[in-house]
Amino acid sequence: MIIIKKSHKKYSKYIWQKDENVPLKTDVTTITLQSPSATYAMAVTDDGYLLHLHWGAKVKGDLSYILFGKNPYTLAENLRDKGTFMDSVPLEFPCHGTGDYREPCIMVRDKNNASTVDLKFKGTRTMPGKPKLDGLPATFARLEEIDPECPAPENSYDCATVVITLEDDYLKLRAELFYTVFGDLDVITRSVKLTNFSDDTIYITRVLSSCVDFNHSDFDMLTLNGSWARERIPCRAPLHRGKQSIDSVKGESSHQSNPFFALLSPNTDEDTGEAYGFNLCYSGDFFAGVEVTQHGCTRAVMGLNPFDFSWKLEPGETFTAPECVMVYSNEGLGKMSRTYHDLYRNNLIRSEWNKKLRPVLINNWEATYFNFDTDKLIAIAKEAAKCGIEMLVLDDGWFGHRDSDNSSLGDWVPYEKKLPGGLSRLVGEVNALGMKFGLWFEPEMVSPDSDLYRAHPEWAIHIEGRELTESRGQYVLDFSNPAVIDNIKTQMKTILDSANIEYIKWDMNRQLTEIASTYLPVERQRELRHRYVLGVYELMEWLVTSYPHILLENCSGGGARFDPGMLYFSPQIWCSDNTDAIERLKIQYGTSICYPVSSIGSHVSDCPNHTVGRVTPFETRGNVAMVGTFGYELDITKIPSEDREKIPGQIARYKKYAHIMRDGDQYRLAHNTNYDAFVFVTKNKSEALLTVTQILARPNYPVLRLKLRGLNPEAEYTASDGNIYSGSALMNCGIEVPLSGDFDSRQVYFYKV
Ligand code: GLA
Repeated sequence: MIIIKKSHKKYSKYIWQKDENVPLKTDVTTITLQSPSATYAMAVTDDGYLLHLHWGAKVKGDLSYILFGKNPYTLAENLRDKGTFMDSVPLEFPCHGTGDYREPCIMVRDKNNASTVDLKFKGTRTMPGKPKLDGLPATFARLEEIDPECPAPENSYDCATVVITLEDDYLKLRAELFYTVFGDLDVITRSVKLTNFSDDTIYITRVLSSCVDFNHSDFDMLTLNGSWARERIPCRAPLHRGKQSIDSVKGESSHQSNPFFALLSPNTDEDTGEAYGFNLCYSGDFFAGVEVTQHGCTRAVMGLNPFDFSWKLEPGETFTAPECVMVYSNEGLGKMSRTYHDLYRNNLIRSEWNKKLRPVLINNWEATYFNFDTDKLIAIAKEAAKCGIEMLVLDDGWFGHRDSDNSSLGDWVPYEKKLPGGLSRLVGEVNALGMKFGLWFEPEMVSPDSDLYRAHPEWAIHIEGRELTESRGQYVLDFSNPAVIDNIKTQMKTILDSANIEYIKWDMNRQLTEIASTYLPVERQRELRHRYVLGVYELMEWLVTSYPHILLENCSGGGARFDPGMLYFSPQIWCSDNTDAIERLKIQYGTSICYPVSSIGSHVSDCPNHTVGRVTPFETRGNVAMVGTFGYELDITKIPSEDREKIPGQIARYKKYAHIMRDGDQYRLAHNTNYDAFVFVTKNKSEALLTVTQILARPNYPVLRLKLRGLNPEAEYTASDGNIYSGSALMNCGIEVPLSGDFDSRQVYFYKV
């Protein structure tokens, strides 16, 4: 619900405007967004500043009194000067250059080469649903696109949007701030659209999508950090004075920092305490900054990374900044995560596969790497089909003359030496086994040794005359150039139309360097980082609209682009190149902090594990991979027969339980050095699945007794051990899970009697 109210408050005005003739009262318009358990409130002073009042637990009534209290950051007490006021008052979209020295949301380079912006309130408009963001992925109101000019009928939408218009009268620059509230969830999404309505060019050098000013700094900051093969490991630390930030400058959202952070009350745990989540719906360079100010207040901002960014906005042009998805929870981290999961499963992931049982796949990467041919693939497929596996995914190495990672990216034609008869023969044979077929692409890349690069060296991102850094033996294509996108589109179309391809793995395996484009004019070079991402989105949009039935899985050297932007296009993302079950517990735990399990690509691989050399039971590998989109990535013709014999049973269990994990609520029960445990519960609380994995066995400790969460306390549940337990006993006394040996794991299924 969105409430816009005007109130008149009898308080003294700010000192710099003190004038005997000004009456001692001021008009304050409040704009309030209500969700089931949270309130987000803003105020507009009569001289046009958009201030932040509150985001947190639900409150009723007029909150404008907050602005007139005794704190240095309030209007009434700020009796010195405007500069001091600007530097301390809680602002909704802070500008640079007029006295606020905290993290700003916007900076420019104007015709004078000056950077100041001063945005003042002009008005609001509200609308049912949610308008699309130009060229950018974003949450949606429902699957049919909402047209803001033609709102959907009353009651047919599940969200509403308020647009707050601010303008700088000097620059003639307009900022429209979009806020959307979703009926049943404590979510607010924010994005920004800038319009230049002057006669001069304005360069935007910084535009962040969200800012929240809190009046204290009693928070921990939670981020998801890591590296290749250990993505999204939670990192929690108390805020300290000054600035703390995460970002990416690599051209992808990155292995190192996910575009997510949360501010947590110091005592917040899985089930209790406040959590404020921020997640940017964007797959490129982002910035998230938290600043503890001179007054001990906190400013939290998020958006496009201003580093090396500049955007030429010509008269009449607009620029849209990506969406920040903000979640409030007063029931700990667990509820924050479940809110993100619900939102993304219902209002972000577009694919028709979102709520469907995904085919159990076998991927040949860890089975063969580049060393395969049609016969080898068919041998794998035959064995896989016998075990009940439903799809063969052919990974890297099927095109050009690619025998290693040193050639052929950009030449998307089947490698005749490995695949005689091409893809149509291979796919025909796979289909004849009753299996689907999926294919790997890396559309954004080009190898120096490729026909594409030889024909168009200018299409690689590079600086004329400067040596170009090779990484994984490849360069990045300039996706700001429509001709490049067209070329790749045509090549992909030819392949996709040549055979019955039902799944695509879209990979992206290197970061950007020597960032310059032969396509863009000199003054637009610093737009390339963002234009590159827009180009990727454009090609993905074409792919998912032209081939809506294809199951698309994103990937970026494992999980370097696990972000909401990618989820808009693909219902699943390869979570990490690290397939070791024990390492995956950590990675999948961190990923679940804001992404649903329905999106986590996870496979059973062979042992010793190719990344860490660890040997784990096949059963455990299955249990861990099942908490994701389940598949196998091993040479099924070579693994021990006792492992192979377990596959049909694993697939049967996956199919029986998939809906509980894909559509249900996740409760993380434990994640420590001794064991990892979580339970999924269906929305109607009639079924639950507990998964527990021991890390290292310890002698002479009591058998683990785990307290479940999320069940109906009044109901009785039959467990897979045949015993009947009450929901309240399972949640308050717990259930014993006997585990023996290192890396042992158990699944326990519960259904309501
Ligand atoms: C990346 C992916 C892997 C695999 C290889 C192929 O590393 O994450 O799963 O597809 O590329 O080169």
